[in-house]
Amino acid sequence: MEICAVVMAAGNSTRMKSAHSKVVFQVAGKPIIKWVSDALFDAGCDEQVYIVGDQQEEIRKILGEQVAYAFQEQRLGTGHAVMQAAPFLEGRDGYVIVLPGDCPMVSSKTIKNAIEYTANGKYAATVVSAIAEDPTGYGRIVRDSEGNVVKIVEHRDCTDEELKIKEINSSMYVFSTPLLLSALGRLGAENAQKEYYLTDTIGILINDGHKVGVAICDFDDTRGVNDRKQLYEATKLMNRRIIAEHMKNGVQFLDMNSTWVHHEVKIGRDTVILPGSTLMGKTVVGENCIIGENTRLDNVFIGDDTTVDSSIASHCVIGSDCRIGPFSHIRPDTVIRDHVTIGAYVEVKNSRIDEYTRARHLTYIGDSTVGKNVNFGCGTITCNFDGQDKVGCTIEDNVFIGGNSNIVSSVVLGKDSYIAAGSTITEDVPPLGLGIGRSKQVNKEEWVAKKSRMRGANYIRLDDKRSEV
Ligand code: UD1
Ligand code: MG
Repeated sequence: MEICAVVMAAGNSTRMKSAHSKVVFQVAGKPIIKWVSDALFDAGCDEQVYIVGDQQEEIRKILGEQVAYAFQEQRLGTGHAVMQAAPFLEGRDGYVIVLPGDCPMVSSKTIKNAIEYTANGKYAATVVSAIAEDPTGYGRIVRDSEGNVVKIVEHRDCTDEELKIKEINSSMYVFSTPLLLSALGRLGAENAQKEYYLTDTIGILINDGHKVGVAICDFDDTRGVNDRKQLYEATKLMNRRIIAEHMKNGVQFLDMNSTWVHHEVKIGRDTVILPGSTLMGKTVVGENCIIGENTRLDNVFIGDDTTVDSSIASHCVIGSDCRIGPFSHIRPDTVIRDHVTIGAYVEVKNSRIDEYTRARHLTYIGDSTVGKNVNFGCGTITCNFDGQDKVGCTIEDNVFIGGNSNIVSSVVLGKDSYIAAGSTITEDVPPLGLGIGRSKQVNKEEWVAKKSRMRGANYIRLDDKRSEV
């Protein structure tokens, strides 16, 4: 059976109030138009043409050259949009699937069912409909007393009686390709919007004496994204579906409403995701981890048995049995091996940190190579930027760095060496050596008494500018 698809994506997206086309907005980490295209490919439909308008560049960038495009110069309605695909459709037999570009929830199952339904029932066309609790804004399916579809009426053109109909047009159709072409040629624009409505082809085919079928599907699968509220609703629904899948695979979530998981994320069993966490891109989390609360992982690979607490990590690798956070920032190109602790207010960027190393508090490690079992005292920083270039340090296995030390690039701290607390290290420290880079302490006896600077009971008053709670 010859199958092809026309996707309408040239609309102005007026209701979205954006500089971009609504079909490029992301839902669970994938642009809406890509959800549509992937569903078509999954349903076995490789021949796809996209009707595009002035914002065609951003759509082409997403879909690439795998699909064809037709330009709609003026936005004269969905019927006019499909007319632009006529050169693509002419000479084809079989069926054409017509979809709006703004329906991220469409599944390959819905598409396959609609094609089968059309072929089995020998219909000239099938409209995919759904029952909407609140059908406001949608076109309504008008049926006769025997239940046969008569026409589709847009919300704006409905009579009071028609407004009560809850069965809506999803804007997804299957047409016999030659019959669609014949109906398109006869569309008029006598309606509230003065547009060529694709929906009118259904009435035309029925008047010609053809059979038109209606395949009812779940309303959620048909949701259109026309404005920010519908975008939010679609995103929430997709998120719930993704999380439900992870739950089936043994992942625990404490709160679906405040946890967002992109569609390509993988999570191992017995991992717990705490509220306020967002897992983005191609993030992979191993088994038995605890993620959150309030954690963002963007394209992060994490091993097993690791906890990440109230932290942000992106484009990096974190090993197994690590303790990250609270309030850590793991930046791109970092590789953290197993059993590592990265604690409160620690930032790591473009560095490699080997097993059992600990930076528990207030540390910055940038562009550096750090060996195994290194201890970073509180307040240690690698000074990796000389104002011109970013160069890191090399810190070998078992080094102990005392608190509040500055390790100035590009020094090498040799294996098993110590750095005295409060040092600024500007030269290499040999293996097994002690580096001290600070001035010697001087004590002035009785200085306070001599200068009359006794503090005694000079208590500092509490801040009284606090809001009542
Ligand atoms: C459309 C249907 C409505 C249905 C609803 C389901 C029509 C007339 N109405 O209304 O019955 O209930 O979808 O979501 O078909 N587009 C173009 N060129 C144009 C106009 C639109 O390419 O000139 C594209 C849009 O980018 C969009 C799709 O066609 O992807 C549908 O247009 P939209 O404006 O969203 O139609 P709705 O008002 O949602
Ligand atoms: Mg729409």
